[in-house]
Amino acid sequence: MTVLTTNTNTTADTTADTSPLVCPVTGRTAPPAARPAAPPTTPPAAPFTERYLLDPSVNADPYGYLNSLRDHDPVYWSAMHRAWLVTGHAQLMHCLRAPAVSAERVRPLMDAVPEGAREDAERAFGILSRWMVFNDAPQHRRLRQVFQEQFAARSIGRYRAFVERATRAMLTRRAVPGRIGDLVADIARPLPALVFARWLGVPQAHGPSFWYWNARVGDLVLGAAQEEREYRTSLQSLVNLDDYLADLVKQRRADPQDDLISAVLAGGQIGKSVSEEEFVGMLTQMAFAGGETTSNLIVNAVLALLEHPEQLAAVREDPALVSMAVEEAMRFDGPSKMSIRTAARDFDLDGRSVRAEDRLFLVTAAANRDPARFPDPDVFDVRRGSASHLGFGFGAHFCIGAAFARLVAGAVVDVLVREYPGLELLDGQHTWQPSLLNRALTALPVRY
Ligand code: HEM
Repeated sequence: MTVLTTNTNTTADTTADTSPLVCPVTGRTAPPAARPAAPPTTPPAAPFTERYLLDPSVNADPYGYLNSLRDHDPVYWSAMHRAWLVTGHAQLMHCLRAPAVSAERVRPLMDAVPEGAREDAERAFGILSRWMVFNDAPQHRRLRQVFQEQFAARSIGRYRAFVERATRAMLTRRAVPGRIGDLVADIARPLPALVFARWLGVPQAHGPSFWYWNARVGDLVLGAAQEEREYRTSLQSLVNLDDYLADLVKQRRADPQDDLISAVLAGGQIGKSVSEEEFVGMLTQMAFAGGETTSNLIVNAVLALLEHPEQLAAVREDPALVSMAVEEAMRFDGPSKMSIRTAARDFDLDGRSVRAEDRLFLVTAAANRDPARFPDPDVFDVRRGSASHLGFGFGAHFCIGAAFARLVAGAVVDVLVREYPGLELLDGQHTWQPSLLNRALTALPVRY
């Protein structure tokens, strides 16, 4: 069964419209058969050698390697990672549309838990199984729809004034012009946390435990927990977070406030199409999904601008380019490197036989540099208009928090770019957190 035949109504790929030479299925350029053969101008490509994606040099700068992997084979079986590495834009879009590709992957996480921590795991994995990102249709649609209205750009827009005020207040306190600091610790980490907690409805006094639990849940889901002790801490943190949010939901039911939880409850679906337990389970996903990724977008966007002074100058001259710069940073060096999926059944992908239960690493960071979709993909160009990047995913699981992330990152980049003419990178090596999924700097030393 091929992706094309299982999914006949969604196979039209927008890449097909951009050039008659680009195959809508493979995204490869058709061989120029009608053209006279030209003498080769470049030496033949070096043979491809697979590398470990967490190899420190690949992790530090993945794009050269990902480009060679995609050029070699955009659908590559990696014996090293025991997964299909899908790196072509068109192939990746096909996977995100294909019913044969499943987002359900709580079981492999459970299997990774060391024997000694298994007894703690049952409730925690019950909570994870309610995360919309781990559900397929029709469950997924039922879960997601209760949040849809509150995450839409027009609802998020109500928070613009608050976000802009919070941004200015934090920058004034922590980023005094001329001072040397770390953009990650000073602004990029605390600001999204502050506005997110306010939006969700978590009182400031509860912030420290709320974010501690979230970070430990992140260790579990992103694979940083390795030892039995770390697993126990992460599993317990997820249970604590669930208990805390269940309590908050009860309080908001009794006494609604101006926050996300109250607004969703007012929608009237909780307790009907979605149980309160499912609602709380999904809330445990929100902060994990939105906190660190938004921080990383701020940092990666500022880094890209500071490393491309002519682009920074263009944005300073025309503030309307700020949002395009943030979007281009999502494509060029976005916070999310890949999404993971499993084959629900055997299917054919670009001529490859994917077997039921095979893992698929959908490497969006590579697809976002696919020359079949983006001309000169390794160039950071704020005027590109890179709307079709896959940095927020695509299809049913497209990031529900995209409008919120764009609002917060846009507010910070706007003030930093326009009101900090002396902003500069300080010399030093940049250290990227070792992660298959996230593209995250540990620090970004700057002079404000
Ligand atoms: C720059 C910041 C962000 C990035 C790069 C990002 C990236 C992503 C990506 C790539 C996906 C798709 C995952 C997949 O297909 O497996 C996703 C889904 C999701 N994101 Fe985000 N995200 C960001 C911000 C946020 C924020 C602020 C929130 C919440 C407030 C959020 C909540 C979610 C949720 C709930 C899903 C699952 C949606 C579904 O399964 O239907 N994200 N995000």
